[in-house]
Amino acid sequence: MKRFLSSLTRREFLASTISLAGASTLSDALALAQRAKTAAAGPIPFPKNFWWGTSTAAYQIEGAWNEDGKGESIWDRFSHTSHKIKNGDNGDVACDHYHRYREDLDIMRRLGMKSYRFSIAWTRIQAAGSGRPNPKGLDFYSRLVDGLLEAKIRPFPTLYHWDLPQALEDAGGWPNRDTAQRFADYTDIVMSALGDRVQSWMIFNEPWVFTTLGYLFGTHAPGRTDVDAYLRATHVVNLAQGMAFRVMKGVRPRSVVGTAFSLSPMQPATGSRADHEAAERAHAFQNLWFLEPALRGRYPDAFVGVSPEMLGVQPGDMDKVRAPLDFIGVNNYYRYIVSAIRPKALSPNPLAKIYPVDVKVGGDTGSKTDMGWEVYPRGLYEIVMRIAKDYSRPIEVTENGCAYADAPGKDGVVHDPRRIAFYHDYLRELARAIKDGADVRGYHAWSLLDNFEWAEGYSKRFGLTYVDFKTQKRTVKESGEWYQKVAQANALPVKT
Ligand code: FCB
Repeated sequence: MKRFLSSLTRREFLASTISLAGASTLSDALALAQRAKTAAAGPIPFPKNFWWGTSTAAYQIEGAWNEDGKGESIWDRFSHTSHKIKNGDNGDVACDHYHRYREDLDIMRRLGMKSYRFSIAWTRIQAAGSGRPNPKGLDFYSRLVDGLLEAKIRPFPTLYHWDLPQALEDAGGWPNRDTAQRFADYTDIVMSALGDRVQSWMIFNEPWVFTTLGYLFGTHAPGRTDVDAYLRATHVVNLAQGMAFRVMKGVRPRSVVGTAFSLSPMQPATGSRADHEAAERAHAFQNLWFLEPALRGRYPDAFVGVSPEMLGVQPGDMDKVRAPLDFIGVNNYYRYIVSAIRPKALSPNPLAKIYPVDVKVGGDTGSKTDMGWEVYPRGLYEIVMRIAKDYSRPIEVTENGCAYADAPGKDGVVHDPRRIAFYHDYLRELARAIKDGADVRGYHAWSLLDNFEWAEGYSKRFGLTYVDFKTQKRTVKESGEWYQKVAQANALPVKT
């Protein structure tokens, strides 16, 4: 992921570490000691009926990119363009899940999963993003949903995980207001076809990420780098979220609707007031830009000097963006370290004028995964607690996971202790958030399978199941077996 980078000086780093270290007061120290005692006492239970699940996305696993009437999406176009994806990879075949979904259902069954988060490819339903639905596309998801229900696994689909129909991009993409109406129509089709069997839904996956990387940085599809178009895109996505929400409740009043947001704790780089303010600004923009309009009908205070006109806000829009989500989906992978841009600092941040903030992905205390992301389990506790406190809604962890390259050994087994340790430590922090009052209903490991990791292609393996992309052979990793035991016990075992 492209970042607004700034390196911390050693002094700043030390200051931030000190101000953030766990036990700065006596009562903190006592709480820490109490936690250690409880953890040592035995397995950590999770709430009854907790949704243990895994998460995937259509473009990352399905393949069959042009079969059965599927149209071209911006990710098909982007990955077929030279130099956009590492090693020239693309999602044409991916995990071939479109043809092998029954085998993947068997893996979920074997892992004892209770929930499966997947996404629906808009271009399978409407090849060009408008007009009559494609029955073959709907049929695929209908069969998948039936298979899940048969296996007693909750189907938990996302309507949009980044794969806009290319035809809609050609007509202007997300900066074009008309895209919101197209999205509402598509939502209506999917809801009418699957709403009889699917109760819980997500509208978007990580709206901040797909707008920012797609329209500002250009590192993801559709690869544009235009600040003005970007700002408008964010507003159109907010409009689409509100409109889709109303469509869903109109078709199925009892549906349970959320969005999966990219949410990370924002930590000031130093104890300075400027850095604290910058961290709050970063929270407002990177965490809340699509949440606050939905739940409170307003944009958070994130920018300096951005007028509603620059966002393309029209009269009545701030009612339209409202979507009183039934739950908040939390995708968490790392924390950010945030500093105010120093007056003289040169910044590669293309928003510098309106967003005087530098953010760095991760700190330097935890180990790094293959993505270069710092392992920081406490961050999941921090962000879940903040969101629970500020919005008092049910929460589902819709993504959390790590990339490590472990492959089958001579014994045929994928030994991946780092992934087990990762999940163990993040789940321990999630259990702590639940104990401290957060209403968390489920947890979805990213991912069921190794898959196409966007601009990183197949070079990063996030799966609980190893996929040999030459043969499509699946091998459940040791972490998968471990996760099965957690789900079965509905408790986190004592770390060995
Ligand atoms: C998230 C995406 C998901 C996956 C993980 C690693 O940002 O939602 O599709 O790529 O990162």
